[in-house]
Amino acid sequence: MNKVLSPQETMLQEVLHGLSLPQKSLPSKYFYDQRGSELFDEITELEEYYPTRTEWKILTENLDKMSSYFGEQILLIEPGSGSSEKTRILLSGLDSICCYIPIDISGAYLEKVAEGLRIEYPKIDIQPLEADYTRPFVLPDIYSSSRRIVFFPGSTIGNFKRETVNRFFEVISEIIGKEGGILIGVDLKKDVLILEAAYNDSKGVTAEFNKNMLVHLNRKIGSDFNPELYEHKSVWVDNPGKIEMRLISKEDHQVKVMDEVFDIKKGEYIHTENSHKYSLDEFEDIASPWFNVVKVWTDEKEYFSVQYLEPR
Ligand code: AVI
Repeated sequence: MNKVLSPQETMLQEVLHGLSLPQKSLPSKYFYDQRGSELFDEITELEEYYPTRTEWKILTENLDKMSSYFGEQILLIEPGSGSSEKTRILLSGLDSICCYIPIDISGAYLEKVAEGLRIEYPKIDIQPLEADYTRPFVLPDIYSSSRRIVFFPGSTIGNFKRETVNRFFEVISEIIGKEGGILIGVDLKKDVLILEAAYNDSKGVTAEFNKNMLVHLNRKIGSDFNPELYEHKSVWVDNPGKIEMRLISKEDHQVKVMDEVFDIKKGEYIHTENSHKYSLDEFEDIASPWFNVVKVWTDEKEYFSVQYLEPR
């Protein structure tokens, strides 16, 4: 039987594996320690980073129309809810929500956010669930007559590789059943200059966010990355259509992780994140084994979309 690994052991294994690949790579989930989450919040406020404010505008301007698709009594489920910031638009604007289930991997933070939400929204039953939403999970058996609507904003789906997208859709279709729906934020393909600027901001916040992953790993698994030896760069990769975040080594050096030593050459890079961008047709295609796209809302420049999907 496989031994269940602790989060630290998993991190160590994933880092050792990623650095052994011909193209070195580290998992983007390790951006998010306390500092990484703060830096991400700063990113969302940057002039060049259009997704957050564009999605916010689409949600606030179309909430009434969206609600007409949801029905009268809904159970709102949010995988990877974090601070539930955008969800407040729905919680404040929709009378139909009887219960909200935020799902996150960090139980303590989740409970803290839930406490605040209970005070802000006393009429809504707030039922946090600690789980890894990319694996099958079970919802509490409550409000069985309500429609289950999943809210998945932020174009987090863009950070998933194709097999994770498929697994996510599989898990979610199980959770919502035949009668449910998903409201999902999807970032769209656009001018490469706009995309690259969004991930190479002029204040250097994204660079700090990228390098902070190395600091995070050093603290958790005792690796000895020197962030100063790397330059941040995000580039557009046309096929399949994604921004790749990279840390490019400025000189030949070595990194030690446990007992293993990795040679890193000048000019070589470590890949840290994919952020896929889709056309509306491409996304419809990807969702199609599980879901029909029922309605799409976009901003006037068609930079970002919020889409309502229902099971096929
Ligand atoms: C969380 N995720 C949707 C962000 C994105 O745009 O892919 C993460 C990010 N990486 C750099 N800037 C923002």
